Amino acid sequence: MSNTMWGGRFESGPAAIMEEINASIDFDKRLWRQDIRGSKAHAEMLVATGILTKADGAAISRGLDQVAAEIESGAFTFSRALEDIHMNVESRLKEIIGEAAGRLHTARSRNDQVAVDFRMWVRDTVDGLDGQLGDLMLAMAEKAEAHAGTVMPGFTHLQSAQPTTFGHHMLAYVEMLSRDRSRLADARRRMNECPLGAAALCGTSFPIDREMTAKALGFDRPTANSLDSVADRDFALEVLADAAIIAVHLSRLAEEIVLWTTVQFGFVRLSDAFSSGSSIMPQKRNPDAAELVRGKAGRIIGGLNALMITMKGLPLTYSKDMQEDKEPTFDALMNLSLVIAAMAGMVRDLTPDTRRMKAAAGAGYATATDLADWLVRTQKMPFREAHHVTARIVGLASAKGVGLEKLSLAEMQSVHPAIGEAVFGVLGVDKSVRSRTSFGGTAPANVRRQAKKWLKKLCAPKKQQ
Ligand code: ARG
Repeated sequence: MSNTMWGGRFESGPAAIMEEINASIDFDKRLWRQDIRGSKAHAEMLVATGILTKADGAAISRGLDQVAAEIESGAFTFSRALEDIHMNVESRLKEIIGEAAGRLHTARSRNDQVAVDFRMWVRDTVDGLDGQLGDLMLAMAEKAEAHAGTVMPGFTHLQSAQPTTFGHHMLAYVEMLSRDRSRLADARRRMNECPLGAAALCGTSFPIDREMTAKALGFDRPTANSLDSVADRDFALEVLADAAIIAVHLSRLAEEIVLWTTVQFGFVRLSDAFSSGSSIMPQKRNPDAAELVRGKAGRIIGGLNALMITMKGLPLTYSKDMQEDKEPTFDALMNLSLVIAAMAGMVRDLTPDTRRMKAAAGAGYATATDLADWLVRTQKMPFREAHHVTARIVGLASAKGVGLEKLSLAEMQSVHPAIGEAVFGVLGVDKSVRSRTSFGGTAPANVRRQAKKWLKKLCAPKKQQ
């Protein structure tokens, strides 16, 4: 049997393999709410502009409500023969209200229909992700406030560099996620134009009111070019790019959690809720959730890559290739949502081992820069020279196998005679972090102030942007 919706010119039905490759209903049924919302707005506009009678409009609206209720309750039977969500909904509408259903597609095409549905889905998802990111940032800012003065090693090249604090480290991620949120907000602003009414590609001869449908569907305005409206998916690409960056940020934190929970680091402990045991090694606690956050970054970035490549060779306007836009986008954004939720759970859950962190913070001559800075400040030594002097003192301590603060004054003076007792005041890790008061620096007072600023911002009722 040929397709009942567009089969006028077709004599036989699709080969089984054609149905297999063509049907998108298995995944695009996810768009059902957006599809019904879009159709209702379209029908209301058709009535308002006199293109559709009030009676037909009312029947369509009522019928669509019933379809929605059936899908919601699970009573709806999706059919692969009907290809996609648009035709599944319309076909059922016809069963419910009869002929009038056929008038719904006046001045519309599946090309602008799928463009508006998909755009609304991405927009709704962005709103959800934004809220989740806010929650994760809140969890981090709370940890940061509680641990503004918890000293830990700061690394470069994963080598002990300078002492920092756990709070400062948490707030580094808050800054990253805040930029991520602003990227999402920016993408949302740009995508918030309504493609409905572009019809197949060139607009329509019916006197439609695109401002009306745009407004009804929560868009700022209709899109200005009908070809562009059905041909582009940059709104999804942009959000996927943002998603990829978020995934990378969270993957780095996940990697740190993996490192920190090792016996060798022992910086933090994750509760049983986010760890799992080994079936053979009874001593093990694996940070599975963190590993999965790190692992999922690969497929989220893959989603961006997949859609980029799908789009890159397509002549304007719509091509069926574009049906391949949905699965990578759904997969990437839904996994991102999972990743953010898991990370928020882990951040709330993790307990720093403050004693171990502090001990590690002093290891590896992490206060050597403080010594060099002290020489510059008190001896008026050029920094380059202070660097050499400090390196020699570190060499001495290292040869003895002790920390800088364990050298005697005489030993220090053997490298530079002018060094006095006061040097010991800068060699401890607490003093080191307290001294870094420059704007954005690691001093606990700074960190506490920043954490409070974030907490206030994140707890404030959300302003409309
Ligand atoms: N399922 C299709 C998609 O997702 C809907 C648009 C179909 N348009 C068409 N001209 N065949 O892209």
